[in-house]
Amino acid sequence: MFFLFQFVFLKKLIIFQSVMALKIIDYGTKEYQQMVQLRDSILRKPLGLSFSPEELEKEKNNILIGAFEDERLLGCCMLVEEGPDTIRLRQMAVPDDLQGKGIGRALMNFAENIARDRGYKKMTMHARKNAVGFYEKMGYKVTSDEFQELTIPHYVMEKTL
Ligand SMILES: CC(C)(COP(=O)(O)OP(=O)(O)OC[C@H]1O[C@@H](n2cnc3c(N)ncnc32)[C@H](O)[C@@H]1OP(=O)(O)O)[C@@H](O)C(=O)NCCC(=O)NCCS
Repeated sequence: MFFLFQFVFLKKLIIFQSVMALKIIDYGTKEYQQMVQLRDSILRKPLGLSFSPEELEKEKNNILIGAFEDERLLGCCMLVEEGPDTIRLRQMAVPDDLQGKGIGRALMNFAENIARDRGYKKMTMHARKNAVGFYEKMGYKVTSDEFQELTIPHYVMEKTL
């Protein structure tokens, strides 16, 4: 019985991993709209906030990243250049019902590899206080005092790539 359970569990895990595809999303596409919707529902609506057209317009020059299972967006994040050596991670979001399954970790690994390939030496972010533990697991260190952004507590976190 135990082995049967283990077999079913492993099979599910393998199927899940085999269908997740990580890729760069092009600005303005249907996939980009999916990304904005996910970020709105996970990162903005719970705070009573939304994205302005001006804010979204600025994303044209960013590296937009999505994890997909077929057409479904499983999670996303974005990379923004801060300087010649430094890139900033923003807008990391995984739907509530998919959190804790390794999607955030896969997005981070993919984003870091892209950043390294493009010659950046350091990744930084404004981490929400409730996500600091996640980024610590990914090797990031807090480098600032607590500050408020979008009405909630944040910390600057960094990692050498
Ligand atoms: C934070 C978030 C992106 C993490 O993605 P995820 O897919 O749930 O994370 P993973 O399943 O890949 O977790 C990787 C590891 O981090 C841990 N972890 C995940 N979220 C955590 C959290 N908020 N605090 C502490 N540890 C966390 C997991 O337990 C796992 O640990 P393990 O490897 O020891 O098992 C996701 O939970 C999310 O979208 N949260 C809401 C929005 C948010 O806060 N975004 C960040 C804005 S700065």
